[in-house]
Amino acid sequence: MPNPTAIEQLEAALTAVDEIATADADRLTQLRTELLGRKAGVVTKVLRSLQGLPAAERRSVGARANEIKTAIEAALDQREAALTAAVDQARERDRSMPGRPSWRGAVHPITAVVDEICDIFRELGFTRVVGPEAETEAYNFTKLNIALDHPAADMQDTFYLSPGIVLRAHTSPMQARTLERFKPPVRIVVPGQVYRRDAWDPSHAPVFEQIEGLVVDEGVSFVDFKAAIDFFVRRFFGEDTKTRFRPSFFPFTEPSAEVDAQCHICRGAGCSTCKYTGYLEIMGAGMVHPAVLDNCGIDSELYTGYAFGMGPHRIAMLRYGIPDIRLLFENDMRFLNQFLE
Ligand code: PHE
Repeated sequence: MPNPTAIEQLEAALTAVDEIATADADRLTQLRTELLGRKAGVVTKVLRSLQGLPAAERRSVGARANEIKTAIEAALDQREAALTAAVDQARERDRSMPGRPSWRGAVHPITAVVDEICDIFRELGFTRVVGPEAETEAYNFTKLNIALDHPAADMQDTFYLSPGIVLRAHTSPMQARTLERFKPPVRIVVPGQVYRRDAWDPSHAPVFEQIEGLVVDEGVSFVDFKAAIDFFVRRFFGEDTKTRFRPSFFPFTEPSAEVDAQCHICRGAGCSTCKYTGYLEIMGAGMVHPAVLDNCGIDSELYTGYAFGMGPHRIAMLRYGIPDIRLLFENDMRFLNQFLE
């Protein structure tokens, strides 16, 4: 006799729902599947079994069975609602719950160094500008007085995108672009990425940051150049820092210099950071070569200027004692978190 059994089974299911402890969320979910699951749910199965009954009986037993099913669903829903309300209330009341620490973004140390350097030059009236990373050979080399048979223009050193087009190997192309577009006085700093065919090692990267500086006006002298660089070095490394200019060579400056700042770690006494020289090399620089001015349509009889180029990666490494340039590219949070303010 399946009929009373069917009703009994359903009533037992309803009792099971009534008996769940009010706070037992897991049991509630479990029971909902056990009872109402589409395939194996107890209630589902019992209702399905009624199909085998004679028509008259099926009607009366079926009606009762559906009643109980509705009651089971209502009981489950009601318990679920009570549970959600209880959880919400508990959350609202628990003022002892610790707050979640909020994530704080921070600028990358290289970005911070670039901004700091550009800000120092802004005090001297320099404007910050940017230029393209894909350049023509003309801007990257020839307008800057670098012949295409110069080793720098070699495929070994420079990334070629297509014949005549390179990834700029320095920010100096912006000297030519600026001088072609603007009449002196010109005072710019140009931060940006540059590319060279160097393999990754502790002191080399195939892409790194540079900041170019350019001043062109009537009567700009080597003294103006030294004063501006000295001002920058004192601001950046500390007021009592000495600056040293060593003769050097660049095709686009004459005379050219390599600029050293007194080592901020040992104050000139000699240490491992400055390789016991007491000084750190921080930039290449010089007076703008008259050929560059002429190439850009600027009268080199009337105008003179100075230019410099420095590497924020190198400068950041010297300043913070970072032993490997790759640390500045990997974005390992254990490294970056040391630069949180
Ligand atoms: N462009 C040179 C370099 O990348 C640096 C430099 C810039 C030198 C401006 C002199 C003047 O090495």
